[in-house]
Amino acid sequence: MNDTSPADKSKVLIVDDNPTNLSILEEILEENYLISIAQSGAQALSITEKFLPDLILLDVNMPEMDGFETCRKLKSQNDTRNIPVIFITARVEPEDVVQGFKEGGVDYITKPFNHSEVIERVQTHLKVQQLIRQLESKNVQLKELNEIKNSFLGMASHDMRNYLSAIKGYSQILREDKKELPEETKDQFLDFINKSSENMLKMVNDLLDVSVIESGKLQLDLQPESFKELINHHIMINQFFADKKKIQFQSDLQDIPKCLIDANKIGQVIDNLISNAIKFSESGTTIFISLKEEEGKLVFSVKDEGPGISDEDQAKLFQHFQKLSARPTAGEASSGLGLAISKKMIQAHEGFLSVDSQLGSGATFWFEIPLKK
Ligand SMILES: Nc1ncnc2c1ncn2[C@@H]1O[C@H](COP(=O)(O)OP(=O)(O)OP(=O)(O)O)[C@@H](O)[C@H]1O
Ligand SMILES: [Mg+2]
Repeated sequence: MNDTSPADKSKVLIVDDNPTNLSILEEILEENYLISIAQSGAQALSITEKFLPDLILLDVNMPEMDGFETCRKLKSQNDTRNIPVIFITARVEPEDVVQGFKEGGVDYITKPFNHSEVIERVQTHLKVQQLIRQLESKNVQLKELNEIKNSFLGMASHDMRNYLSAIKGYSQILREDKKELPEETKDQFLDFINKSSENMLKMVNDLLDVSVIESGKLQLDLQPESFKELINHHIMINQFFADKKKIQFQSDLQDIPKCLIDANKIGQVIDNLISNAIKFSESGTTIFISLKEEEGKLVFSVKDEGPGISDEDQAKLFQHFQKLSARPTAGEASSGLGLAISKKMIQAHEGFLSVDSQLGSGATFWFEIPLKK
């Protein structure tokens, strides 16, 4: 009837002072369960210290410690509290049955017992126990997810409030003091408003990406693309910000035949790696960008001469909302989402994203993806 291996079998402890009862119960249950037996309440308690059963069949009338007292002790200990106890006894008075349930038993079988009934009851309570365990572990998982979500919302709204406050503040001054303000100041305020709304839009887009990724609905639109062109496009977009910080690009990009990628998503990763290199480096430094093909894989890297990343920070780098020790060197926006999203985008392409860095010696972020032509 049961073809589970011994390791998968549920463990049942049978407790009875009568050896004949013990061997009958053992015989009817041993085919499907791992059985251990005890001839007294004290022995049962000592066995549960080494062998934690999934269910206990417990006689009531035993010398010294009876079944009710044994059950009470089991229910008072953390390790054994949740093990279902079925009383199996010759005591058939209604008040005995009631006491059995009051002591924490889940069921009460009277002797002489029907073999099939014992098997069915044991099976039912083991199933219920298994469902309870699953429910408990789901609850723990849900609690953790809820905490992550709360901290996520907290951080997102904190950043967004900063952007909104800037937009509100500067637009209010512009409206109230329009006439007195010099043209130059007005332009500057408009720039602040524009920059803050851009940052906020990027953040909202990042959050949407995170929610798509987390719900497992990230879909790739794979098209044959030239990787070199894609990189050059993103170098060009970032050139303006690099120039502002007097940061130079040096690129070494191998010509690689068109390959199947989702250019929007890979473009987002390239952009985040290049913009991070600019954002966290001091002016006057150089950023090295390389693309090559290696053993059927496409390898892209961005190396900077910035502050580098400690081992401790590297462990957190690819998680959501990680703004680490390196801070933007020219007041750029930073929400700590870029690398977490990038990692998932690369994984969706069956590749991986990683970093080599030592504190004080710059960082090299690189990813490789299989070359699909
Ligand atoms: N090249 C780098 N050198 C040093 N530290 C870096 C580098 N790139 C990332 N970091 C650190 O890792 C953190 C996370 O980077 P990530 O790209 O995820 O977020 P961000 O750039 O702060 O914000 P955004 O969501 O706009 O990308 C950064 O805040 C920074 O502290
Ligand atoms: Mg970033």
